[in-house]
Amino acid sequence: MQRRCILLGGSLIAIWAASPARALFKAVEDEGAGTSERVRSLIARMTIEEKAGQLTLMTSAVGGPINPVNPDPANPQLNRQLEEVRRGSLGGLFNLGVVEVARVFQMAAVKETRLGIPLIFAADIIHGFQTIFPVPLAEASSFDPDLCERTARAAAVEAAAVGLDWTFAPMVDVARDARWGRSVEGAGEDVLLNRRIAAARVKGFQGRSLRDDDAVLACAKHFAAYGAAEGGLDYSTVDVSERTLREVYLPPFKSAFDAGALSTMAAFNEISGVPATANAWLMRDVLRREWGFGGLVVSDYTGDLELVEHGVARDERDAARIAIMAGVDMSMASGIYRKHLPDLVAKEEVPLARVDEAVGRVLAVKERLGLLDDPFRRIDAKRPGARIGQPRHVALAREAARRSIVMLKNEGGLLPLPTSGKRIALIGPFAEGQQNINGPWTLFAKRGQGVDIESGVRAALSDPSLLTVVKGVNATSPVPGGIEAATAAAKAADVVLMVIGETEMMSGEAQSRSEVVVPEAQLRLVEAVATTGKPIVVLLKTGRALALDGAVLDAKAILVTWFLGSEGSHALADVLFGKHGPSGRLPVSFPRRAGQVPYYYAHKSTGRPDLGNKLQAYRAHYSGVPNSALFPFGHGLTYGDIVYEDLRIAGQPLDRNGEIRVTATVTNRGARPATEVVQLYVRDVAATLTRPLRELKDYRLVELAAGKSVSVSFALRPEDLGYLGVDLKPRTDAGIFRVWISPSAEAEGVTDTFELRSD
Ligand code: BGC
Repeated sequence: MQRRCILLGGSLIAIWAASPARALFKAVEDEGAGTSERVRSLIARMTIEEKAGQLTLMTSAVGGPINPVNPDPANPQLNRQLEEVRRGSLGGLFNLGVVEVARVFQMAAVKETRLGIPLIFAADIIHGFQTIFPVPLAEASSFDPDLCERTARAAAVEAAAVGLDWTFAPMVDVARDARWGRSVEGAGEDVLLNRRIAAARVKGFQGRSLRDDDAVLACAKHFAAYGAAEGGLDYSTVDVSERTLREVYLPPFKSAFDAGALSTMAAFNEISGVPATANAWLMRDVLRREWGFGGLVVSDYTGDLELVEHGVARDERDAARIAIMAGVDMSMASGIYRKHLPDLVAKEEVPLARVDEAVGRVLAVKERLGLLDDPFRRIDAKRPGARIGQPRHVALAREAARRSIVMLKNEGGLLPLPTSGKRIALIGPFAEGQQNINGPWTLFAKRGQGVDIESGVRAALSDPSLLTVVKGVNATSPVPGGIEAATAAAKAADVVLMVIGETEMMSGEAQSRSEVVVPEAQLRLVEAVATTGKPIVVLLKTGRALALDGAVLDAKAILVTWFLGSEGSHALADVLFGKHGPSGRLPVSFPRRAGQVPYYYAHKSTGRPDLGNKLQAYRAHYSGVPNSALFPFGHGLTYGDIVYEDLRIAGQPLDRNGEIRVTATVTNRGARPATEVVQLYVRDVAATLTRPLRELKDYRLVELAAGKSVSVSFALRPEDLGYLGVDLKPRTDAGIFRVWISPSAEAEGVTDTFELRSD
């Protein structure tokens, strides 16, 4: 097969140069959002069937990541799909990650179709291609958009090396309900953090220019409010006000588009009765007219066909009509556009102009990606070897993993541990083995490539014989004799590391959980080990916020270790043994009880607010549980001892055109250096509408050597204090605002008020 591909490759340039499409593609490229002359003239020559084909994206039948196959000419799947390409009834393929197979498909598109229009190759590159970075929620804990941009860049370099042009990422859905399994794919509960990270990931994927052979098109998904599913149940109903939509769920999309994302994916869910895939208000009024988005809207996987199950389309033909008329340009996986658009246009149920508009967007994206000039731009068999798994990517995976770890508690300074002189028992279902290292969305990770926790910890010890490893229980069931073996190992040790939590398949798509807790079998294990009295460090695997309780919460130290990717176990050892300090912060609030969910820090006061930790009757809290987080958004400890003092507000009262500076002194009184994430929150004390208890307005990562102090200063302008009024128009009210500079969304830190003057 390889030899055949090389032979084919040799003649590619000649074939392309001679193709009719090439002749048309001589016109000057339009770098803007509009359609270029060559795209227009191409559309003018296309049949309606070819147009419907361009609007069709299908999963690759062969050569995919899970079962890469030799494109054997006798393979019926391959032949069927190649035939579709030759007929011009496919615009692109997704989840094909084998460069040689991509070449075969692209050859068919360029050489054997009437107009020679190249295919676009897409895939879900969520947190790395083969070098696996931490799951997005974990990486958001770094609070560092620059880091997120660098990992997205590295992922794009590896993905583009196998011929991929387009990633279905970043997911920019704000996620406030921990039951929702897809929390793992985004940046958590906060709007500002989501905005910053959305923009960074887009820039990373798309690089300097989309034409570059190592750039991939970003797709901000899922448009919109997918994370607001009722009860945290994936695909479920969303019923949010336009205000919440505009203030919480839409802003990260806007940031992604402002950063240059040229595609977006219509979400599976409905919004207040109208499925996103049928939502002309969302895709036309807001996205196109209001925001001026010039890119491509793709459906989610069979999302168009699902309009039938939603109960808004009579049949699949009707579903195709509704989706395209609402603004979905390209259909993913269902095939209903290519099946029904020709007839819908013939019967004048869909105007040809609308089809041409959608085709124009698909071709414009192909043009921007450089595919119309060179369809083999990202298809070069020499590249995977040179670009995938580069040492700098591996080093970046370790750095990102290190910075994703969040230390929730560290009683008596148990951590960091010494690398010698202490016997360590590593206990738990995730202590050894290759599973549950990467997370739920790694289609192209090489089997056996990740470093397991046992190997990571062992590699860091001066005397590896000090480590004993016992599984104890499976993730959700007992192991015969496992608890006895675990307690025996704990008794013989000086310190116990317990690797517990969720398996990677407990989060991700369709993995909603009714209770966000550590599974029962593992709780029994921790309780049993705790009876030995040995100091316990919990290493918590999770793709969401969890309610921690009992022996888990009583552990002396807790590190949230999420799913950290291929270098995660080395990174974990770096932090455990103090080579690097923990610096991550929670991007989602950990509730006290599972039943508190959805819990997020930026909730409203109510008329009878909870009084912090004091339970008082007839106030807004669940029976016996304060309405606050166990560990709030923004929380995370360091190996330093950080103190916040001396809030100063300069320039107040704030004028309409003015600016105030809010400053605090942050000191590391500890004996070790620390990276502190200093956070600025504001509350509008009396507005025309209820406002959140606090809103994150800015934050800064500050390096603090032992014993050092630093003044951290933030600027605030009137526009930072605005909100949408009753009429949904932006407004800012004069009056009193409370401001905090603090180490988390619920810590007091230092606080004061200032006034915004009316004029
Ligand atoms: C998911 C998308 C994903 C698509 C293609 C869908 O089920 O919702 O996020 O990009 O599949 O794999």
